[in-house]
Order: sequence, then structure tokens, then C-alpha cells
Amino acid sequence: MPAPQKTLRVGLIGAGLIARQHLLAIAQNPGVAAVGIASRTRDKAQVLADEFGVPLVADSPAELAQAARPDALMILVSPQAVAQVALDCLGLRLPLFLEKPVGLCVAEAEAVALAARRAGVPGMVGFNRRHYSVFAKGLEILRERGRLLAVHVEGSERMALARSSGRFSEEVLRAWIFANATHTIDLLRHFGGEPEEVCAFSASLREPLGDQFAACLRFPGGTLGSYAANWHSPGGWGVVLKGEGVSVEFRPLETGRAIFADGTVRDITPDAAEKGLKAGFAGQLAAFADMVRTGRLAPPSQDLDGALLTMRLAERLAGRPVPLG
Ligand SMILES: NC(=O)c1ccc[n+]([C@@H]2O[C@H](COP(=O)([O-])OP(=O)(O)OC[C@H]3O[C@@H](n4cnc5c(N)ncnc54)[C@H](OP(=O)(O)O)[C@@H]3O)[C@@H](O)[C@H]2O)c1
Repeated sequence: MPAPQKTLRVGLIGAGLIARQHLLAIAQNPGVAAVGIASRTRDKAQVLADEFGVPLVADSPAELAQAARPDALMILVSPQAVAQVALDCLGLRLPLFLEKPVGLCVAEAEAVALAARRAGVPGMVGFNRRHYSVFAKGLEILRERGRLLAVHVEGSERMALARSSGRFSEEVLRAWIFANATHTIDLLRHFGGEPEEVCAFSASLREPLGDQFAACLRFPGGTLGSYAANWHSPGGWGVVLKGEGVSVEFRPLETGRAIFADGTVRDITPDAAEKGLKAGFAGQLAAFADMVRTGRLAPPSQDLDGALLTMRLAERLAGRPVPLG
């Protein structure tokens, strides 16, 4: 019988909405325990700690590391703060989980990836959609029948909602292509691999880095792809995978269906383990725990270098947006 695994002790930095989602996932994983929270506003961290029975609240990552002796840290702070907090944490020499985005531009993501490499600190970036069980099931159905022929991603953002919510600073809203649209841009790489050719157009109705995007891509093996996003029009996020005699659709991303050449349709449903949790969070946490234990990050998770490739692809898709009249 294999020896029982030691419980992995994680410390959380940040006490907002997403920290709560990670704590829910941790509560359902018997191999992981949250041993402390450090955040900007101590009271908010205390409320979260009380709700989830986290034994320590600290004023800084260094204090958290010293007092709670975690095996790893999860950086779950506001988008504009992730890169700097990550740089500040590297000296603690603990494996890191970082929420996306690792910075609001490619240069910031490059700086963190380089500094982490130099410090020898492993990092995993929270592209949780890579861990959707419906995606794995859909790909399996497609691959049973042959090759992946095409990947089509719609990544329309609800920009008016993001702006009116009051939750995001102007610098985050201006960098929305990196701050949030990278979730769907990353799916191009997740399904297709590293694009070998990209032909991208962008235009701007209101956002300086663009809010209308159309791109064609060619992936290894000849798989073709497209990316379309129109941030001021109803739509949302969707993925369509084309295979040999089968199409697999995810719209919304959390549910799927496979359509076969004879017209039959099969629903693709999420794993029971994901119930009650933000989709992908159970698998994402298990992958992070595995990375901390083994020192290796297995696909489909993304390390800092992988996340950097997604940021670079976002920059490529944004191009130089043409102003719309
Ligand atoms: N994977 C996903 O699907 C997903 C979904 C949503 C968000 N996210 C990402 O998760 C991150 C957090 O988002 P959220 O919705 O949880 O935001 P939020 O509710 O605003 O929470 C952010 C938390 O970080 C704290 N914080 C900010 N700057 C800090 C710093 N320099 N040092 C320590 N703590 C700091 C804030 O402190 P205060 O309490 O003082 O404000 C707050 O507790 C963002 O990077 C976002 O992009 C990912």
C-alpha cells in the first residue's frame, strides 16, 4: 500500500472573491490545508479565515511564511498587483500559484517569468478553464474518431458590464485583453498547441487596445483555428472543435455537446467532483498540489513561461487596433 501523502500546507495572499473560491476547493481536497491568509485589508482576511477555519491571519506574505510555515503560496490579489506581489514573494523560495493575469502587459509577465527562473521558484498560473472536465471529455470523443481539424474560439467580453461594475481600476480596464480576455485566448493554445501562423485584425470602438478582434491561426499538424471577439455586442464565450465526423461545442464553456455525422447529439456533462465549486478549480488545485509535491507541472497546466506565451498571443491578436468611426 502506498504511504499516505503528507497534507500540503498552503498560504493564501489576497482575501477577495477568488480567494473564497480557492478556499472552497481546498475544503473539498483532503490532501490540502489552508494554513494562513495575508491580505491588504486584515479585517477582510479575518472574515474569510473565520469562515473557513484558517488558523492564521498575517499582514504580509513574509509574516505568513514565517508564522505558518506553508509548503506553497497562492497569489490571489487584484489583477494589477499579481506581478509585483509575485516578485516580492520569490525571496521566500516557496512554490507559487498565481491567479491570472501575471501582469497587465507582456513586459511584466516576462519580468516575473525571468525572476522566477533565476530564483528557481516553480510557478503555476490559474488558467482554470484548462481543467474543465467537459473539455477533456469532448477532446476524448473527438480523438476517438480521428484528428482535431479546427479550433474556433469566441471570446467576447462584457466590457460595458466590467466598466460599470466599479470593481476594476482604469489601468485594469485598459489592459482588459491581458487582464481577462487571456482566459479565452489561452484556450487557442490549450486545444491547438503553439500557433505557427497568425493573421490578426483588430479594431477599437472604445477601448484603446481594441475591442473587436478577428484572427485566423494555423497550429501544428495543420489544425486551423479562428478567434473572434466583439466586446460591445451580446455573445459571450464559446469554443467549437471540429473533428473527423464530429463537432464538439462548448457554449457556455461549462457545458458541452458532441454532434455526430449521422445527426445524433450527445451531451457532455461536468464531473461530479466539480459540483459546488467554480469549474476547473478542483482539477487545478490537484495539479498545483502535484507540482509542489513532485517539482513538475504536468499538462494541461501552465507555468509562468506558458502564461507568457498566452500574453504574447494576446498582444499579437490585439495588434494595432484601427479606430472605428
Ligand atoms: N480564474 C478565474 O476565473 C478568475 C475569476 C475572477 C478573478 N480572477 C483573478 O483573481 C484575482 C483576484 O480577483 P478577485 O475577484 O478575488 O478580486 P477582489 O475581490 O478585488 O480581491 C482581491 C484581493 O486582493 C487583495 N489585494 C490587492 N492588492 C494586494 C496586495 N498588493 N497585497 C495583498 N493583497 C492585495 C485585496 O485586498 P482588499 O481587501 O484590501 O481589497 C483583496 O482582498 C485577480 O487577479 C483576477 O484576475 C480569476
